[in-house]
Amino acid sequence: MIIAVDGFAATGKSTLAKMLSKHYEIPFVDSGALYRGITFFSIENDFIKGGELDQDALRTRLSEVKMKFDPQTGDLYLNDKNVAEKIRRAEVSEYVSTIAAVDFVRAFVLRELRQMGNQNGLIMDGRDVGTVVFPDADFKFFFNASPEVRAERRFEEITAKGQKITFDEVLQNLLIRDKTDSERDLAPLKKAEDAIEVDTSNLTINQVFGFLIRTIALK
Ligand code: DC
Repeated sequence: MIIAVDGFAATGKSTLAKMLSKHYEIPFVDSGALYRGITFFSIENDFIKGGELDQDALRTRLSEVKMKFDPQTGDLYLNDKNVAEKIRRAEVSEYVSTIAAVDFVRAFVLRELRQMGNQNGLIMDGRDVGTVVFPDADFKFFFNASPEVRAERRFEEITAKGQKITFDEVLQNLLIRDKTDSERDLAPLKKAEDAIEVDTSNLTINQVFGFLIRTIALK
């Protein structure tokens, strides 16, 4: 069984995808983590200067990037280093949408993601899982929520980790990312025709979870 959970940033996709993964005992894959891993690699290697990505430099070095998830913790390893915490930093969030719009980056990540689908089943969250990565997924959900609710959730998450950021910076980052993700030419963020839309603005995590498992059971 393949379940695709797509949608806007900070709508609760990964929280719910992890809960489904536990419930059905099938692996969870966070597709955005791979785009974040490549963004972190680009920052570390100074491919981003003055806010601009040096595409040629990244293209030349992309074959060095080896990424895998720890099956127990879900942590991302980039060339054998645990980067789970680093890829969530504000600097990575700032540039990840730009990097995710680059054609050879998407081709690279798409190949990695499809390989993971060769296993028995999986739950993947992202932006184009139901439209491009697994268009034949058994279940497709598309998450949305109001920008303020999303920014509030992300703000709580970031400040709880002790990182300094303002509510407005979080909100702006989400809005800019949504715009870049939705307007890019390649595999833009959009609801697959056959995806079920879930607005999580006024729902608790458990209410969303209940809705998802009832929907899956009914099919
Ligand atoms: O889910 P996330 O916020 O960690 O994703 C980070 C970025 O990666 C997001 O802004 C867009 C990009 N992304 C994508 O283009 N396609 C995916 N399937 C997953 C993420």
